Amino acid sequence: GWVDRARRAMLLWFDREGRAGLPWRLDRDPYKVLVAEVMLVQTTVTAVGPFFSRFVARFPTAEALASADEADVLKAWEGLGYYRRARLLQAAARALVERHGGRVPEDPGAIRALPGVGRYIAGAVSSIAFDLPEPILEANTQRVLARWLSWPEDVRSTRSQARLWEAAARLVPPEGAGRFNQAMMDLGATICTPRAPRCLACPAADLCLARREGLQDDLPRRSTP
Ligand code: ADE
Repeated sequence: GWVDRARRAMLLWFDREGRAGLPWRLDRDPYKVLVAEVMLVQTTVTAVGPFFSRFVARFPTAEALASADEADVLKAWEGLGYYRRARLLQAAARALVERHGGRVPEDPGAIRALPGVGRYIAGAVSSIAFDLPEPILEANTQRVLARWLSWPEDVRSTRSQARLWEAAARLVPPEGAGRFNQAMMDLGATICTPRAPRCLACPAADLCLARREGLQDDLPRRSTP
């Protein structure tokens, strides 16, 4: 079926064309994955790179981050902006120490309960660090899914968000969830771009309803017609 073809296409493509060199993909240490995803919520991949490496060298474990002076954490965060995230990340590290022995728990609900961790970060950490079949939805994935489904409504509406999360949950495979979710992000960043998507290079072109209908340049919609 369609879901199986999409999974297979994305996993194969990720192994060949995924962005393997990103600094936070060098290992799957759940703490480092958490740090990266917090940084990546409001900052671009290019900007995060050097900050991420410096930050995890300075605070290599949840324990180290939990026991650091807040001023040192904010100093290491300098340049990334949105300092509230740095404070929340340190609060999350303290919760990891207090509730989970300093480790990220292999439990999506417990991850979601950490300070500053919403549905996206919980899904990203669960899938990337533990390969749990949890969905993600962020700007790139949202665009890919809106095009695959030829979703005609404003993607920002509550109904659209519910529908897209549901699609992401249906698609994420029982095995290879982390690779699949990262493939969706990478496809959105490199092929299924906001302007002039490169459908000829897309591993999912034959699954994509928007492409079939010639609507890829008009989706996702930002306002209902
Ligand atoms: N954006 C958010 N999380 C990401 C990740 N793990 N890899 C690439 N881009 C991302």
